[in-house]
Amino acid sequence: MDDLTQLPGVGPTTAEKLKEAGYTDFMKIATASIGELTDIEGISEKAAAKIIEAARKLCNLGFKSGNEILTQRKNIWKLSTGSKNLDEILGGGLESQSITEFAGMFGSGKTQIAHQACVNLQCPDRIIADDSIKEEVLNEPKAVYIDTEGTFRPERIIQMAEALGLDGQDVLKNIFVARAYNSDMQMLYAENVENLIREGHNVKLVIIDSLTSTFRTEYVGRGKLAERQQKLGRHMAMLNKLADLYNCVVIVTNQVAARPDALFGPSEQAIGGHIVGHAATFRIFLRKAKGDKRVAKLYDSPHLPDAEAMFRITEKGIHD
Ligand code: GTP
Ligand code: MG
Repeated sequence: MDDLTQLPGVGPTTAEKLKEAGYTDFMKIATASIGELTDIEGISEKAAAKIIEAARKLCNLGFKSGNEILTQRKNIWKLSTGSKNLDEILGGGLESQSITEFAGMFGSGKTQIAHQACVNLQCPDRIIADDSIKEEVLNEPKAVYIDTEGTFRPERIIQMAEALGLDGQDVLKNIFVARAYNSDMQMLYAENVENLIREGHNVKLVIIDSLTSTFRTEYVGRGKLAERQQKLGRHMAMLNKLADLYNCVVIVTNQVAARPDALFGPSEQAIGGHIVGHAATFRIFLRKAKGDKRVAKLYDSPHLPDAEAMFRITEKGIHD
């Protein structure tokens, strides 16, 4: 939760009222309308405008010059997946300042890729970046693993770490794991990543495994769809903000469902519709092939061609 009394004209009483109305942090206020805030007792139109403007500044919302964007993009770095083939179709690896989605059926390797990413973050030759950025990334980098399905396995992390000659316990120390039992907890944990960063942790990787499972069980039926999508949209916006502001790699995993109208094209699609589709910069579809082989297909990427890559999942982890 942010300290709302940092906002102009907001004392402890108004801060309390804002929080009661659900405006618990700067981002929620920054994206509110003046009309919404004036619904709260004691906030005039003029005051609302000032509060929103200040919140937007605190959240870095607003116009940036083209040069600023260029500078920000120069800080982009990449995290290897462990498979050169897979890195190649992603344009070099998992990219910071964006969200990469891995969708696929059970056992297709989504959770394994997420585990491997946590390990690779501790491996200097799996960080692809200019020297100065690499130094920043490698300054005790931390991964955050928001686990909604209870499938995070420290034993597997140790196994993957040792395969790379790393100390398993050291790698585990640098992963913050949070088990989310419902979508509210999931969103709260994602918001709390900023607190970890403010406490001085160099969070460089954020994983949501899985993005949609809690939403799927809580919002059942057509009547709940709009509400679900709105909430999912806010969650994705939060993740995009983390990625941008703190130069993090963000990975979300997603399940697939049969496409009822699949006369043409693929017979399965990722959950979450356009909301998830537009918020993720890189979308990968995973499917099982023979034995330990998996096929990854990149699709719908704004600046990369659709492409396929083959990788394997073995005791060592993810590799070609
Ligand atoms: P859901 O979460 O159920 O939707 O699936 P997922 O896509 O997350 O699958 P996950 O990443 O958990 O992949 C599981 C598969 O990885 C297993 O079926 C195995 O084939 C493989 N796997 C997992 N752990 C090991 C391991 O220690 N050794 C080997 N050889 N393979 C493993
Ligand atoms: Mg999984």
